[in-house]
Amino acid sequence: MTVTSINKTDLGDSDRPKHIVVVMDGNGRWAKKRLMPRTAGHHAGVKSTRKIVEACIQEKIQALTLFAFSSENWKRPEQEVSSLMQLFISTLQSEVKSLHKQNVRVRFIGKCSAFSDKLQQKIIHATELTQNNTGLQLNIAVNYGGRWDIAEACKTIAAKVQQGELQPEDISAELIDEYVCLKQLPEPDLFIRTGGEMRISNFLIWQLAYTELYFTDVLWPDFKSEEFLVALNWYAGRQRRFGKTGEQVDETKTSQC
Ligand code: FPP
Repeated sequence: MTVTSINKTDLGDSDRPKHIVVVMDGNGRWAKKRLMPRTAGHHAGVKSTRKIVEACIQEKIQALTLFAFSSENWKRPEQEVSSLMQLFISTLQSEVKSLHKQNVRVRFIGKCSAFSDKLQQKIIHATELTQNNTGLQLNIAVNYGGRWDIAEACKTIAAKVQQGELQPEDISAELIDEYVCLKQLPEPDLFIRTGGEMRISNFLIWQLAYTELYFTDVLWPDFKSEEFLVALNWYAGRQRRFGKTGEQVDETKTSQC
């Protein structure tokens, strides 16, 4: 698709996703193409992240969830993992003040106890500093895996059954919804994955049940606000049926006009 030089959409509220989730893929390949180390790709990726956060604020998106480090990413070479940890620390250090100024509320999902004390402190600081902000809800998934998320929810529910607070018959999809990450937000409307791969890679697998999936070959460091607006316009053209027929959805739309 040709990217035009638009820098703002004129989408109506009903065509605009409330919650967008992103797999920021392609940093390594971006660097390799330039004969640079993979870590240079991650550094360039931070610039795209900043641009997309700004675009979400401009487009009045309620929530943005970014996959920064998966529970499987520990398998990468030790040097890359350690450089990513360093990058998270320095990025939180340099960006949090400005995010706070822009009224962004920052939260983290994933098993943060696996990180160094220094990184955990940055995570706590960012969360606490921005906790009363009412603008964009920015969730950063670190050491996160969708299967882990579901297993944690099951553990909590099982403990409640053991204590007699819940009966096994009380367990339903709606109940599990209450215990998985991001329960306080609308379910993701739009999933974006850059870098050409067409898979979900264990990201929010419970929450993505009805999400529209957008894949692009553009590598994350090249994914700027123009590319993001292309994805938003693509989303606006989708008909979300949630199990209904297209005709039923059209009828409901007409009756609301
Ligand atoms: C995947 O690309 C990218 C990552 C595992 C790291 C993403 C992290 C950032 C962009 C930094 C953002 C920082 C914060 C604090 C939100 P890849 O390395 O798998 O790329 P490849 O598929 O080309 O090898």
